[in-house]
Amino acid sequence: MSQRRKFIKQSLVGSAIFLPGVASAYTSSAAQRSVAGEKPVILSTWNHGVPANADAWAKLNETGNILDAVEAGVRNTELDLTNLSVGLQGLPDREGITTLDASIMTGDGACGSVAFVRQIKHPISLARAVMEKTPHVMIVGEGARQFAIEQGFPLEKEVLSPNAQKEYDKWKEKSEYKPIINIENHDTIGMIGIDANGKLAGSCTTSGLAYKMHGRVGDSPIIGAGLYVDDEVGAATATGLGETIIRICGSFLIVELMRQGRTPQEACEEAVRRLVTKSKNIKDIQAGFLAINKYGETGAYAVHPGFNFAKATASGNLLIDSNSHFKP
Ligand code: GLY
Repeated sequence: MSQRRKFIKQSLVGSAIFLPGVASAYTSSAAQRSVAGEKPVILSTWNHGVPANADAWAKLNETGNILDAVEAGVRNTELDLTNLSVGLQGLPDREGITTLDASIMTGDGACGSVAFVRQIKHPISLARAVMEKTPHVMIVGEGARQFAIEQGFPLEKEVLSPNAQKEYDKWKEKSEYKPIINIENHDTIGMIGIDANGKLAGSCTTSGLAYKMHGRVGDSPIIGAGLYVDDEVGAATATGLGETIIRICGSFLIVELMRQGRTPQEACEEAVRRLVTKSKNIKDIQAGFLAINKYGETGAYAVHPGFNFAKATASGNLLIDSNSHFKP
């Protein structure tokens, strides 16, 4: 049987789940409602998630490995020259230097991340190398660059992409330090996925906040903030103004809320509610979350309208508008 047919068959088998036993509040609550999940499923943030999901899905079909899939998916975005918020073509910090953050995690607790890293085209693969080849979780700055060289990652020339240079020149006319991510200035690809057997993985990569202070790091490389994955429960990822997401440990919070019995949708909504109550100037701040539980149910929610995400299943790869705390 071809790999693709095998996945489709497994996903059909996986979609009708009735839970034996009561192992936890989470399992117990799911057992009391009908679970409408579908596996495999891959979610990723924003419209750049559509081509990223397509690559992730192809990789899942090729290797059957959800970790390979979430790495391959966001590598697509890291190479997208039209993207100003992910990869080396992203907008620079206020000194004119592009610095990148990324993290990767699997549901057995393995994780790796890099932050404030320069000249590396695929920070997500460097994060995976930290996870697989070092005893550490996070390596930053010059240390990350040195580790990349040791691992044979090529160093790219440190020049801004034409689009980023144009935007940076425009910004320099006023040099207004206004660290805001709103719906016109969206950021980050966060991707989470579950395979037909219930194995989860996630990835998150960004050039971070445009015109940030040199050395600023957002939520994306911080395990528990931009990304969290636990095979016992589910996975979550975040996008938006990293400072607000770090303050509430957003992705970890969502996974823990799901562990306590919330659906992925309820957990995302509660995380946004908490973020809203803890943030000043919330009318200017966008942030959004995606979640999958171990049954393949999904959720998405944002602070403001405008957040969208891509959802890939055996029946297609759709761009979906998320609901939000503040209404249009
Ligand atoms: N969410 C990406 C950042 O704040 O850097």
